[in-house]
Amino acid sequence: MTPSVVVVDHPLVKHKLTLMRAKETSTASFRALLTEISMLLAYEASRDMKLGTKTVETPLATIEAPTLEGKKVVLIAILRAGLGILDGMLELMPSARVGHVGLYRDPKTLLAVEYYYKVPSDLSDRDVLVCDPMLATGNSAIAAIERIKQSRPGSLKFICLLACPEGIKNFHEAHPDVPIVTAAIDERLNEHGYIVPGLGDAGDRLFGTK
Ligand code: URA
Repeated sequence: MTPSVVVVDHPLVKHKLTLMRAKETSTASFRALLTEISMLLAYEASRDMKLGTKTVETPLATIEAPTLEGKKVVLIAILRAGLGILDGMLELMPSARVGHVGLYRDPKTLLAVEYYYKVPSDLSDRDVLVCDPMLATGNSAIAAIERIKQSRPGSLKFICLLACPEGIKNFHEAHPDVPIVTAAIDERLNEHGYIVPGLGDAGDRLFGTK
């Protein structure tokens, strides 16, 4: 299996991401921009959703028209920054179910520690999109996906705003079967586990906590 990374390098996404990176961008703008980009990521992440058909009568003719088939999508946000991706995704997929996984990075080991887990009870047959803006070390994403895989979801994708080569490598060593959808791949990870050039701490910028 070839691990898949889709970079949504649309001009609108690039422009909005540049605005998000700027350190003077306000919390309100950062939040709004993340919602807007998330809609565009949702568009790409849902590209292979299965379609059926249904009979529709237009004013001129009766046709078999495409319609989404299958069970509802499940969005799972990795707390806390993953919350910033939910609103945009839900704009496009309003009946999606939502789950939350709480993980924090141990500042010394940079490893993910789980403190909360609540997802829809039956994930089988569901398309699950796991959301976290920054794929940095990959540790949180790897741990979240490991946990979610125990519920045997129909399909899984990981959606982020920014990734780096180190995070992608770690993630796909652990989960080669899970495609990544991202707005950009930055240069590198620094010694503190931050993406460079990146945009800083996504949670702090989203919630104004610093
Ligand atoms: N988490 C963030 O919020 N930013 C980074 O650069 C890396 C991890």
